[in-house]
Amino acid sequence: MEQMVQTFLQQMTLQEKAALCSGQDFWHITGVPRLGIAPAMVSDGPHGLRKQNDKADHLGVNESIQAVCFPAGCATACSFDRDLMERMGRALGAECRAEQVDVLLGPAVNIKRSPLCGRNFEYYSEDPYLAGQIAAAFIRGVQSQQVGTSVKHFAANNQEFRRMTTSANMSDRTLREIYLPAFEAAVKEAGAWTVMCSYNRVNGLFASENPSLLTDILRKEWGFDGFVMSDWGAVNEKIQAVKAGLELEMPGPCVASVEKVVQAVERGELSMEVLDQAAGRILNILLRRPEGGAKGTFDRQTDHDLAAGVETECAVLLKNNGVLPLTRQQKLAYIGGFARTPRYQGGGSSHINSFRVDGALEFAPEGTVYLPGFSTREDQMNDADLEAAVQAAKEAQAAVIFAGLPDSFECEGYDRAHMRLPECQDRLIHAVAQVQPNTVVVLHVGSPVETTWADEVAAVLCVYLGGEAVGKATDALLYGDACPSGRLAESWPFALEDNPSFLHFPGDEEGVDYAEGVFVGYRYYDKKKMAVRWPFGHGESYTSFAYSNAVARVENGRILASVQVTNTGKRPGKEVVQLYVEDLTGSANRPPKELKGFEKVELQPGQTETVRFELDERSLSWYSPSGWYAAPGPYRLLFAHSSRDVRTCAEFEWESGRRLPMTVHRNTTVGALLADPRTAAVLEPLLKEQEPQESSAAAREAITDEMIRQMLVNSPLRSVQAQKSYTDAQLQQLIDALQQAVDGPQA
Ligand code: BGC
Repeated sequence: MEQMVQTFLQQMTLQEKAALCSGQDFWHITGVPRLGIAPAMVSDGPHGLRKQNDKADHLGVNESIQAVCFPAGCATACSFDRDLMERMGRALGAECRAEQVDVLLGPAVNIKRSPLCGRNFEYYSEDPYLAGQIAAAFIRGVQSQQVGTSVKHFAANNQEFRRMTTSANMSDRTLREIYLPAFEAAVKEAGAWTVMCSYNRVNGLFASENPSLLTDILRKEWGFDGFVMSDWGAVNEKIQAVKAGLELEMPGPCVASVEKVVQAVERGELSMEVLDQAAGRILNILLRRPEGGAKGTFDRQTDHDLAAGVETECAVLLKNNGVLPLTRQQKLAYIGGFARTPRYQGGGSSHINSFRVDGALEFAPEGTVYLPGFSTREDQMNDADLEAAVQAAKEAQAAVIFAGLPDSFECEGYDRAHMRLPECQDRLIHAVAQVQPNTVVVLHVGSPVETTWADEVAAVLCVYLGGEAVGKATDALLYGDACPSGRLAESWPFALEDNPSFLHFPGDEEGVDYAEGVFVGYRYYDKKKMAVRWPFGHGESYTSFAYSNAVARVENGRILASVQVTNTGKRPGKEVVQLYVEDLTGSANRPPKELKGFEKVELQPGQTETVRFELDERSLSWYSPSGWYAAPGPYRLLFAHSSRDVRTCAEFEWESGRRLPMTVHRNTTVGALLADPRTAAVLEPLLKEQEPQESSAAAREAITDEMIRQMLVNSPLRSVQAQKSYTDAQLQQLIDALQQAVDGPQA
């Protein structure tokens, strides 16, 4: 391939190379038609094919071809199921192939920092490992059809407020531990063909002209071999961007940009090598397309059924006092317009012109009473509709309220104004719950909402934005034809104010400070020991599971773990075994637990299976100033049903000669030196050999040896000099001895 790319580059003119690095039009990469390299088509993405023929736009305004709308990212991450995601990806890839789309613009893997982000419905999770695993599986599926993906938006695009100019400001550690790993998995584990850089700046520098992100991390560290395209209109300064490692500017036509590149090369501002490299990287991907664009086929109905199947595995049963599953013999009231016309996708560039839409009402048992209750488009309800709904609920054996956010409440392009449902829906739920103990709420939302009525209702099923077949999936779950197995990919706090980003979202003119650092989502709630409405990883089932025999051991630098899981209930069901790592070494201020593994297993009643995991050093590591670091010492593996329901655990010792580098100087604290076994060995005996001081009983009472010791911990090394009356030379000798203890014997 490399040879072929070079041959093409040799034949291309400067103009052709510059043109290749800019879109031809809204949805096409230019190609090199003179040399037989056809333009390539890209389309949104991520959970369906939004192929537009003419009247192109990226806001979901104009029509696209009819396609199948799969569940959105907010739902699919809850599947915790790599195989399922791969299958969904394969179906989407086949649709793209059949429609001659070469790159699907997704998956979108940005972290859900705040529940208010307008695009959370497209994103997967607050947890980077889960987001990365789901994304990698999806990418493997799509790309198995010889269709590329574009993992987006790289990086730290976690809000819509001033999305084109804001600066996401954070520490290296936060960026590496929280905001980059999902992209890393997409590149390293799935070989994403392309990456889409985000609009925003990161620590002041536009993502599109950020050499650290685009070149140092993406290429040099992760070995990315595809090309980076800009988000639509994300290029700020073209030449800066090309130099930083951005290969393709989208959308086109970019007449001025092409000209700028040509002139920059002619003037010597941009070297031909850099342009060749950019053009070569695009060619490298264009040449991966199947010969002649191989068409392929797909059947919309088959994919629609797959969308229903996927959603069935994603919906999360948040609460159930036993009212679910319902039976088809019960006298039921369905309340809320979302029963007929569900909200199943979000607005903006991911908006699909759906092939067909299933409302749950279509599948409801005969005799079910239906009342619209409230408006599904705005916060509006009249008293008569409310009274009718309450009356119907009273007369039924169970009431199912189909609640959700209207389209305008969450959408690409702006953030949510608050975390509540429309007030009228909250009012209706409270009112119905008062008269009907068997009230079930089905939520059609793209992110968490405050559920002030949660304790008053019997069950809550969150179907998220479940794709065009959501109604069919909802029906299967409500009546027990399927057993719920979705688990929350994000925490549901009681109130917006509980969220760790609350005081620092969405920032101001200048940017937004990610002041909560690595403590995002459950990492924060756990650290603060805060109650949440529903924790990360949570999800009820119609059956139950027991965990036993947890094992963890280290073998050849890998951590091998296993646990036995038994279905202790009466129905077949799927359990998501979640594996969290707890660092007991005390080497850094870390979240109490972090997800590092999960497996979804299907078990028949009474069946037991051993679930195995293999972790590497990185699973234990935090990002220190000198890179990823797993301190030697004890770790605990938590085998859990959710982040707040740890069933069993196993400990192991990580042995490693690696220590963080330390530079000892006169202001290094005694505490830091005592905390490190290497320097403690030198300093401890010295401190102990202190002359016993003559002191009065009163003085001893005023300040004990323990108090002196604790004060010393915060003192710099130079205070030891004062205490011991060392000369400067003696202090330097001590510093040298300590440094040598850190560095080890010199060769
Ligand atoms: C969005 C991208 C999308 C692109 C093309 C942009 O506004 O941020 O996610 O792929 O438009 O529609």
